[in-house]
Amino acid sequence: AIPRPADIFGAQRRNSKGWDITDPVTLAEVTEERARFDAPHQWRAGAGSKTRAVVNPARPMEIVGEVSEASTAAVGKAVDAAVKAQPGWEKTPVATRAAALLRAADLYEEDAVEFFALCAREAGKVLADGVAEVREAADFLRYYAGQAAEVERHTTARGVIACISPWNFPLAIFTGQIAAALVTGNTVVAKPAEQTPLIAARAVELLHEAGIPKDVLQLLPGDGPSVGGPLTADPRIAGVCFTGSTDVARLIERQIAETADPDAMLIAETGGLNAMIVDSTALPEQAVRDIVASAFQSAGQRCSALRVLYVQKDVEAKVLEMLTGAMQALRLGDPALISTDVGPVIDDEARDNLTGYCADMEKKGRLVARLDTPSEGRFVAPHIFRVEGIGEMEREMFGPILHVATFAADNIDKVISDINAKGYGLTFGLHTRIEVRVQHIVDGIHAGNIYVNRNQIGAVVGSQPFGGEGLSGTGPKAGGPSYLRRFRKGEVTALAP
Ligand code: SER
Repeated sequence: AIPRPADIFGAQRRNSKGWDITDPVTLAEVTEERARFDAPHQWRAGAGSKTRAVVNPARPMEIVGEVSEASTAAVGKAVDAAVKAQPGWEKTPVATRAAALLRAADLYEEDAVEFFALCAREAGKVLADGVAEVREAADFLRYYAGQAAEVERHTTARGVIACISPWNFPLAIFTGQIAAALVTGNTVVAKPAEQTPLIAARAVELLHEAGIPKDVLQLLPGDGPSVGGPLTADPRIAGVCFTGSTDVARLIERQIAETADPDAMLIAETGGLNAMIVDSTALPEQAVRDIVASAFQSAGQRCSALRVLYVQKDVEAKVLEMLTGAMQALRLGDPALISTDVGPVIDDEARDNLTGYCADMEKKGRLVARLDTPSEGRFVAPHIFRVEGIGEMEREMFGPILHVATFAADNIDKVISDINAKGYGLTFGLHTRIEVRVQHIVDGIHAGNIYVNRNQIGAVVGSQPFGGEGLSGTGPKAGGPSYLRRFRKGEVTALAP
């Protein structure tokens, strides 16, 4: 196995008794930590005037905190402060900036249990996903801290960067964007997703505690029209780092084109219509395990998740039987329980959109198998539908919904061209034991991250730089060696490999 950066850095979070509490099974058994996880909390985010309650997606009657969203006027003030703070931060030695990130990584890990609780209650993340969030966030902080000095040579910071992040990785992606911008000497105004301001606020508290000055990193919780739009339209913004939908990325691109700075940076990580090919030589047990993880883990709410599975006709019956069986074994429910495999989706809008789509597909006679959706909470049960091919799919369904198509051995090139024709290019999975076929398909598919004989989610910082092409994003890849470069102006003469 490839060692994770967190393992290399020895960053296993252990409690006083030496138990690794970043292992969800251990966490569920360690009573002291479990009590901290279960303790009732009222988290807070923001200092604006419009206050609203944040609820638990698994139990919408349970209020987990309160957010005071920023006004549009606050956006201009935040950018004023960031512009003023910029020269001082840029002059701060890169080693000092990097040291603050390293301290923040330690603080995140010391605070891991609170983050797990926040991830479960605010974002509906199962324990294993909460653990992965903290690890990935700490990995980003350490990885970018380690690279900053190299990128610094012969380049200058850009200025004020707007970081706009999604709810599906409310800690990891949120932190990765900010860490990259800060360590390269830029100041940051961050707008977290509307659905997950509390996790963002706790992260920013720790980043400030780690030594990042308040005006160098400011958090503006709020929605797109009142905060995100005015922020990206401010002509003093030197760049935008965005992860979210392709439509919003286009909007931001247009706005940037209209601002005064023609050199403004845009990094956009957007959606995908990710496929996997399983041929008749694949090991069915392994393929099925990886299909289930890729399609249903995190309730399918990952931009990397598998949406369309192509199975070779000869093995279709066997793979579908095993896949349906494995799906039936998934437990849907409270994300705070260790036994839960699939938690809720993020909000009512997501649930209504997904359940409407499922009802429509069922009416069309496409259903292969499904679990039952509980009536309480924002749940969508895993579903498998039959399709002719990826060509008929109009959009990404961001939930636990898998589409299955078949192919014959002699039309694999048509499958490759159909996948490419959709214009996305984020992740792709392949299960085969024929080496020349691996090479042929990998050469033919246009995707940022291609995974062979494994699942296609959970890219590891430093080992699997993550990012797509085409409609899936503008690059450079997050967690890879060229990412930081984009946050500086000028030539980098020698980059570490
Ligand atoms: N980086 C995540 C993954 O690989 C997706 O954003 O699953």
